[in-house]
Amino acid sequence: MEKVISGIRPTGNLHLGNYFGAVKSFLEMQNEYDCMFFIADWHSLTTHPTPENIRRSVKTILSEYLACGIDPEKAPIYIQSDVKPVLELYLYLNMNAYLGELERVTSFKEKARTQPDNVNAGLLTYPTLMAADVLAHKADKVPVGKDQEQNMEMMRLFARRFNRIYGVEFFKEPQSFHFNQKAVKVPGLDGSGKMGKSEGNAIYLCDDEATIRKKVMRAVTDAGPTMLNQEKPEPIRNLFTMMELVSTKETYDYFNDQYNNMQIRYGDLKKQLAADINAFCAPIRERILDFQNNDDYLRRVAAMGCERASESAQHTLDEVRHIIGFR
Ligand code: TRP
Repeated sequence: MEKVISGIRPTGNLHLGNYFGAVKSFLEMQNEYDCMFFIADWHSLTTHPTPENIRRSVKTILSEYLACGIDPEKAPIYIQSDVKPVLELYLYLNMNAYLGELERVTSFKEKARTQPDNVNAGLLTYPTLMAADVLAHKADKVPVGKDQEQNMEMMRLFARRFNRIYGVEFFKEPQSFHFNQKAVKVPGLDGSGKMGKSEGNAIYLCDDEATIRKKVMRAVTDAGPTMLNQEKPEPIRNLFTMMELVSTKETYDYFNDQYNNMQIRYGDLKKQLAADINAFCAPIRERILDFQNNDDYLRRVAAMGCERASESAQHTLDEVRHIIGFR
């Protein structure tokens, strides 16, 4: 079975956009592939979080992915910093990664420009650590968004280069896995564009009912359709797209008909949408709270993941050491 691995940056809470994007595809993948997921807490050190920051954000991400339905028996989930052999591979890869090529990575250049007083070596070698994450398990596929394409190319370059230097066919070149091409882009409800944390328009899986209602009720609408069967402008289309995701077909059809015959009352639509979003999120929210209050369970999940990942990575590293000449 093909091996799939993906790293998750521990940056805040999951929102509906994450759920219908990455999370949902992880849920499908865990049934079809030999999957491992990990929380990239080493990578997060580039921004110098406090110990309390790290602890909290790792715990949050772990609880939320489990609450969404990642099954740690099927798909081990581990914390990057628990699996030390990856660090050794990071060191070896760094010996054959060149300053010029690392400096040319777009995300590095972007960070160097926006945070000129924190251009640290970890930022520069972000791609070698990411390559080590994946190559340590000889994974076949890596589910990533378009923004990670350059990191994936660097990963393949480092794999080829290692093979060439040592005259071996050891690492395979991991492929980017564009799983969510068919996935719906979840819109924001603020008029245009997608839902995102940085867009400030996100509805989080952990939001309570009142918060959800407040966010939905202030969604952007217009004065209403002025013709029968009128095409919907973006803010209205976004409300309907969201409805398609969380409401029943009957509900969707009802409001769609109301729109088409110009009877729509946006206030009613929003109330219904808020209720349906809440019904969708409520069970996930409860599980998030349960997991957050169950450190023992979270620790067991992480330990199980660590054991599986360490075994796989150590196996690779034993061979790498041999190839390099540490015998
Ligand atoms: N760079 C990825 C991101 O920003 C996170 C990540 C770190 C990752 N290591 C990885 C993803 C290995 C896939 C494989 O989202």
